[in-house]
This record gives sequence, C-alpha cells and structure tokens, in this order.
Amino acid sequence: MDGDNDLCVLQRRLAEAGQSHLLQFWEELNAEEQQELFLELQDMNLEELGQAFQQAMMNSSQLVGKENVDAKMEPVPRDVLGSTTRDRAQLPLWEEEGLRQISQNKVAVLLLAGGQGTRLGVSYPKGMYDVGLPSHKTLFQIQAERILKLQQLAEEQHGLQCVIPWYIMTSGRTMESTKEFFLKHKYFGLKKENVVFFQQGMLPAMDFDGKILLEEKGKVSMSPDGNGGLYRALGTHRIVEDMEQRHVGCIHVYCVDNILVKVADPRFIGFCVQKGADCGAKVVEKTNPTEPVGVVCRVDGVYQVVEYSEISLATAQKRSHDGRLLFNAGNIANHYFTMEFLKNVVSIYEPQLQHHVAQKKIPYVDAATGKPLNPDKPNGIKMEKFVFDIFQFAKKFVVYEVLREDEFSPLKNADSQNGKDNPTTARHALMSLHHRWVLNAGGHFVDENGTRLPAIPCCTNGRSDAIQADVNHNLKDANDLPIQCEISPLVSYGGEGLEEFVKDKEFHAPLVIDRNGVHELMKNGV
Ligand code: UTP
Repeated sequence: MDGDNDLCVLQRRLAEAGQSHLLQFWEELNAEEQQELFLELQDMNLEELGQAFQQAMMNSSQLVGKENVDAKMEPVPRDVLGSTTRDRAQLPLWEEEGLRQISQNKVAVLLLAGGQGTRLGVSYPKGMYDVGLPSHKTLFQIQAERILKLQQLAEEQHGLQCVIPWYIMTSGRTMESTKEFFLKHKYFGLKKENVVFFQQGMLPAMDFDGKILLEEKGKVSMSPDGNGGLYRALGTHRIVEDMEQRHVGCIHVYCVDNILVKVADPRFIGFCVQKGADCGAKVVEKTNPTEPVGVVCRVDGVYQVVEYSEISLATAQKRSHDGRLLFNAGNIANHYFTMEFLKNVVSIYEPQLQHHVAQKKIPYVDAATGKPLNPDKPNGIKMEKFVFDIFQFAKKFVVYEVLREDEFSPLKNADSQNGKDNPTTARHALMSLHHRWVLNAGGHFVDENGTRLPAIPCCTNGRSDAIQADVNHNLKDANDLPIQCEISPLVSYGGEGLEEFVKDKEFHAPLVIDRNGVHELMKNGV
C-alpha cells in the first residue's frame, strides 16, 4: 500500500460496490493486518462478484420447478453408454486402446484436491489422510502408485517409455501442505517435473444481501470457488499450455477422496477414444431412488447432472423395463475430456458457467460488537462452480458405467459421524476389492484352523463368473469386518498379474502383497 491515496481509491471502490463495512475495523488493526486486508481487498473484482451474486441468487430462486425438470429429463441412451458388466467382450479392446494412448504420452490425469474436507474435519489436505490400511498409505500415495504401475503396464505392452503427467489442483488453503507432503515423500517415486501443482481461485462468503462477510476484523471469509473453479484456474496458471507442450491428447479428471479411483483407467479412456467422444463421465448405477446422488441425463436434449433434490420422488422411482431405475447413472465426478474440448471450455465457455449457491453457517465478525460469532443456522452463502457444468458444451458426450464396489468409495465423513463414506468404509472397500482379486487369481483364505473361508462373490474383471453373490454385503456396514487384504498398486493396478503370487495357495489374513513379496502379517509376527 502506497499510502492514503491508495486507501482512498479502495474506500471509493468499496463504497460503490456497497461493501464499505469491510474497512469498519480498520483503525483497530496493526500495520501488518492493515496491509494484508488491503491487498486482499484490492485484488477482488468487486463488480464481477456483485454480478455473480445477483445471478446466482436469481438462478437459485428461479430453479426450474420440479415438474418442469422431471418432464424434460431423458435417460442416457444405450448407444452412448459403455458398461463394464454389459459390454464385457469390449473391455480388452478398450483397455488395449487406453494403454496405447498412455504409451504414446497422450494421457494426463488431473486431480481435484482443492476442497476443504469440512465433513472429514482434519486440518490437513484430504489426500494426506491415512484410512488405516495395513501399509498406512495415504490417498495421495495410493494414487501415485497407480500412476506408476500404469506407466509400467503401458511400457511393457508397447515397448515405449511413457509418462502420465499428474496435474494437482489445490486451493489457497491446501497448496503449501500438499507440496510439502509430496516433497517429503519424494513424489512417491514419480518424477518431480511430471507432477504439476496449481491453485484454484477463492471467493468470499456473503450474507443473503450480498454483503461480504469478515471472518476476523482484518480478514475476509474466503473459500475455494468449487471444483468447477478448475476451468478458470487452468487458464490463469497456463496449465493448458503446459499440457499442449507435452502433447497431451486427453485428460482424466477425478476427486481426491475416492480410495478406489482407477486413475487414468485405460478401459474408460479407450472407450471414450473409440467412441470419438470429446467428453465422458464415469458413473455407478444408482439403485436406491432416495440415494442423494446426482444423475447424468439429458434435459432438453442437453447432457447434465440433475441433483437428487431437483427431481420428484415419483421420477426418482421410475423404472425401465429391465427393472433398473430409469435415471440410474449416478455421477461420481470422474471425467474424460479431450484436449480440444478442455481448451474450448477454458478459453470460450468458462465465463458462461454459473455459480451454484450453498446456504451455510458461516462464522463471522458481528458488525455491531466486533465479536466473532458462530451461527447455529445458515447466515449466508458460498458460491461454487461444479466440474460437471461443462457437459452441456460437449459435441459428443458418452457415459461409462462401472461397478460401485470396484471403483467408488469416497471418503467424506469422520468415523464418529455416521456409518457412511468414512475412513472405515473406505478401508473396507479397498480390502474387500483386493480380497476378491486374490480369489479371482486362484488364491484362498483359511481361518486359524486351516479351514477355507467361504469365497465372497465377485465378477470384477470377467474372469470369475464362478464366484458369485452379493458383494454389497461386504461394504454396507462399517462394523462388518472384511478379510484384511491389501495389494500394493505397484504390484497390481486392477487385479492383473496376481496368479504368480497366489494361485492355488492358502493364506491367513491379514495378507499384504507388495513389491517385496507376500506377507502374512500374523505368521510373520509383523
Ligand atoms: P466435496 O464437494 O466432497 O468437498 O469435493 P470436500 O471439500 O472434499 O468436503 P466437504 O464438503 O468440505 O466436507 C469433491 C471433490 O472436489 C474437490 C475436493 O477436493 C474433492 O476431490 N473440490 C471441492 C475442489 O477441488 N475444490 C473445491 O472448491 C471443492
């Protein structure tokens, strides 16, 4: 700040935008606090913010009525749908195509890791969370090792050295700790130059009249602008240019909190490439009409995600002739974009994306008393863009359906909160999947008396039709203990290559298979 002049200019700008209250406590701040607040406010585009607020409020109050959306919704047609269960014969072809793309350095992955993880309630980025696997690997490490393994598989198949660059979007709140964590862990074996961090934007929280809230007397209440903040951040930080320099052809975008995520899934990529798609969404089947998950569908002929809250129960309950829910394409924020499509989104369409409004309880400084307050009911809004808001711009949109128990188990809540989407369910989902991989590869588990444990069910990769039953049984209850089994991603990406370790062998749980071999932890006294 260069003195009174600059402050006067800021005061005038704030007055014009109806935000003068932000300097209300100015005289009480020390020089350093004043400087920080000044810089924070000076950087804000107040006019754009005001417009975004008006627009977002208008959209949320005018949300197309339930009947209207219901009447306009159409399910995903079969010809744009690929399915790991219904199109089994195609899987090897899609995988082959995906690995070919990877081997030619055409595939990048992009991790959305800018969220605040409020529900999980830890003070560090969610990717650093250890859900309590025998190896104690964090989500970041698991994902890094899947990338390493996939590079190796593509190299083996095509004899070409290849790289899958990893773009990691963080926010102002998660950037430094994320970078430090990667540095400390030597990028988990990846090359530093192939891991690119960039930061999404932040937006201030506002009250219902559009007044920006102060978190402290000298600090605005800021939060990340939603995972759809991705598109602006890609432009601001010249990430698109970086991708072009590396000759990236397509990008797999995914969320940090899904412990089962198949990073750069070659089958998904191969499917999208063979379909000539510019945009694709991986989905899981929604089986319960009241599950609060958005569904991918067409509205007025345009693809979008319709939130559970936007449709009537009657529509959510509709079934098609095969008995499945009519609107069953459950969105798991796992997307494919071609480079061309992403470039157009960043340079042309991004400004057209509207903010969504979430009413929240936002801690703030009381204007009258200057005291910090923690409201017990929503007192304001946060504005966010969503990563799926760009489906509408796709010229050729496709949907790829996978089994939930193979690919989706998000970490959202702390263990203490409820039995859903927490560290225990995430840990169990991973161990249950790995257990099934061992069974599929011809291995067996025995109890302390040497009696074989009944095989749990599965038909994950088309090799196990013999073993069947209800897999969900293993996942639905956090107290239901699965067999402890963990396979390092460095050994197997998707269940492949395990026969040499397990075929016709019997194991006592806990079992860990890593690059050093097979470990029965109890036997070895580990
Ligand atoms: P969620 O919407 O589940 O939010 O994010 P969250 O931050 O993880 O958790 P809560 O709601 O505060 O409890 C889904 C994915 O989108 C990313 C998250 O990091 C996660 O991978 N995300 C979310 C961003 O990258 N930026 C955001 O602004 C919000």
